[in-house]
Amino acid sequence: MPTPSAARIHEFEVVSNTPVAEGIWSLVMRAPKLAEGLSSGQFMSIAVPGDATQLVRVPLSFSKADPVKGTVETEYAVVGDGTRRLSLMRPGDTSDVLGPGGHGWRLESHPRRVLLVAGGIGITPIVSAARWLAREGVEFDAIVGTKTVNTLWGFDELMSVGVQHVVITSDDGTAGDQGFTTDALEPALAGGEYDLVLTCGPEVMMHKVADICAAVGVACEVSMERMMTCGFGACATCVVPTRSGNVGACMGGPVFDAKEVVW
Ligand SMILES: Cc1cc2nc3c(=O)[nH]c(=O)nc-3n(C[C@H](O)[C@H](O)[C@H](O)COP(=O)(O)OP(=O)(O)OC[C@H]3O[C@@H](n4cnc5c(N)ncnc54)[C@H](O)[C@@H]3O)c2cc1C
Ligand code: FES
Repeated sequence: MPTPSAARIHEFEVVSNTPVAEGIWSLVMRAPKLAEGLSSGQFMSIAVPGDATQLVRVPLSFSKADPVKGTVETEYAVVGDGTRRLSLMRPGDTSDVLGPGGHGWRLESHPRRVLLVAGGIGITPIVSAARWLAREGVEFDAIVGTKTVNTLWGFDELMSVGVQHVVITSDDGTAGDQGFTTDALEPALAGGEYDLVLTCGPEVMMHKVADICAAVGVACEVSMERMMTCGFGACATCVVPTRSGNVGACMGGPVFDAKEVVW
C-alpha cells in the first residue's frame, strides 16, 4: 500500500499579493494549520478562483511558513491562465489550498556546508531551504541565476537569513556575472568546501548541476517540477523516472536524490 498523503484542504485568506520582480509575484496567505505543517521543500496546490472551467489547482513551493503568524508565503511566475488569475487575488479574498504536499529537502548526509543553486523562479524553495539551514545551524552559500536584473528576486531574502556568500549570474550580464549558474558551480565546488548541493530551477540546469556534483563526489538534491493534476498520488501525471522505476513527484518528491533520477 502506498503511504497516504498528509495533505489536507485548508481555507486561506490573502494577506498580500504584490509584484516583486518582472513577471514574479509574492503571495502571503493566512492558513494557520498549513503554516504549522509545511516542511522546507514541500509544496501546496492552490485552487484559484475566477474560472469555473479550470478544475486543476496550481502547485507552488513556499519560501516562508510562519506558524506564529499562521501565514505562508510563495513567489510565483505568471506564466498562464492559473497564475494570471492568482495574481488578481486581493487582500481579504479567500479560496482553498491543498497541502502539505510530498516531501522536502533532507539533511541525511549531515552536511558541514551547503551550496544552494537556484535558477529563475526555482528560488522560491531555495529561500525556504536557506531559512531552514539557518535554523539548523548549517552554514550555506548560494548561486542565484536569473534571465536579467529585472527578473531577479531572493538576494535580499538570502542575505537577511544569513547566507555567507551569494554569486548572482544572469543570461544577459545585467546582474552579477554573465552566464549560467552551472558556470559558477564548477569553480565553487573545486575548493572542496561543500558536501551537499540543493538545487531548483529549469530541468536542464538541474541535470547539469547533478552531473557536476556527481563528477566531484558531492551529494545533490533536486526539486523536480512536473505537471500535477491531483497533487496527492491519484493520477500519475507527475512521474519522474528513477533508478527504482517511475516515482510520482507529488508523493515521492518533489525533492529527489539527484543520483536516483534518470535524466
Ligand atoms: C512541486 C511544484 C512546485 C512549484 N513551485 C513553483 C513556485 O514556487 N513558483 C512558480 O512560479 N512556479 C512553481 N511551479 C510551477 C507552477 O505550478 C506552474 O507554473 C503553474 O502551474 C502554471 O499554471 P498556469 O495555469 O499559470 O499555466 P498554464 O500553462 O496555462 O497551465 C495550464 C494547466 O497546466 C498545469 N501546469 C502547467 N504547468 C505546470 C507545471 N510546470 N507543473 C504543474 N502543473 C502545471 C496547471 O495546473 C494549469 O491548470 C511548481 C510546480 C510544481 C510541480
Ligand atoms: S499529481 Fe496526481 S499522482 Fe502526482
